[in-house]
Amino acid sequence: MRRDTELIDKILGLKRERNAVILAHNYQLGEIQDIADFTGDSLELSQKAAKTEADVIVFCGVHFMAETASMLCPDKIVLLPDIHAGCPMADMITAERLRERKAELPDAGVVCYINSSAEVKAESDICCTSANAVKVTESLDASKILFVPDQYLGHYVSTMTDKEMILWPGYCPTHLRIHPQYIIDLKKDYPQAKVAVHPECRPEVIALADEVLSTGGICRYARREDVTQMIVGTEIGIIHRLRKENPGKKFIPASEQAVCPRMKLITLESILWSLQEMTPEVKVPEEIRLRAKAAVDRMLEVV
Ligand code: 13P
Ligand code: SF4
Repeated sequence: MRRDTELIDKILGLKRERNAVILAHNYQLGEIQDIADFTGDSLELSQKAAKTEADVIVFCGVHFMAETASMLCPDKIVLLPDIHAGCPMADMITAERLRERKAELPDAGVVCYINSSAEVKAESDICCTSANAVKVTESLDASKILFVPDQYLGHYVSTMTDKEMILWPGYCPTHLRIHPQYIIDLKKDYPQAKVAVHPECRPEVIALADEVLSTGGICRYARREDVTQMIVGTEIGIIHRLRKENPGKKFIPASEQAVCPRMKLITLESILWSLQEMTPEVKVPEEIRLRAKAAVDRMLEVV
């Protein structure tokens, strides 16, 4: 505990010295959420990054999130405290394979989930997050949509739109650990509980949910008066924030196994080291940045 206090004091001191802001995703370790200037979902974090006046952004999340922040603020230094914190789903597609698929589907509009590299975004018409995927897909002037790389988010969107959806076969290994039977069993133990799940879950899990929401959406839903108990179908890091913001309410993870190992690579130690050494920095080559940013800017105009 004393060690943590010392670490935190050093981080906060250096943060002031460097004029840095700490942004954390809702899946980060509790101690990191607690020292962050802002904790949120992918959309909220990119909006915050776009508006910050800090010189340095310490991004506590995974690589594509830091990359998006750097694309939006090329003059700022964006640090990802552990460069190995990548998203396995984002690695399930490359720009080259996307170009090949686009050539087979010349009349399809391309919607890419923000969980993708800048190169993949650069090949897409518009970007989306879990908070706005339906709205973004609807906004495109195309009746056929190639949705990449998350087949489950894409499937969820397909149930909410009349557009023809072609899905890339990517997935989130963490959300696939949540099985429908877990929710069925928990509902027996907690019959009053609302079920809120992330749209990266498989369709059989989504079918059991009261609400299908981004992580930021789950946090807002939890604040409602009629929600006193919640079965939470997403990565378990969010439970820290839910309990902290809603004392007296009960939050039950749908699965204790739903842990994103890459998110957990960021630690207080790595944040301190990153601020001391001003590395690892995430930066996107200018030609890719401009094309990828166009897809993100289009999304930010829709929401
Ligand atoms: P959110 O944008 O809903 O926070 O989701 C990000 C993510 O990686 C979910 O696995
Ligand atoms: Fe990627 Fe899944 Fe981790 Fe989100 S939870 S960062 S989609 S691996």
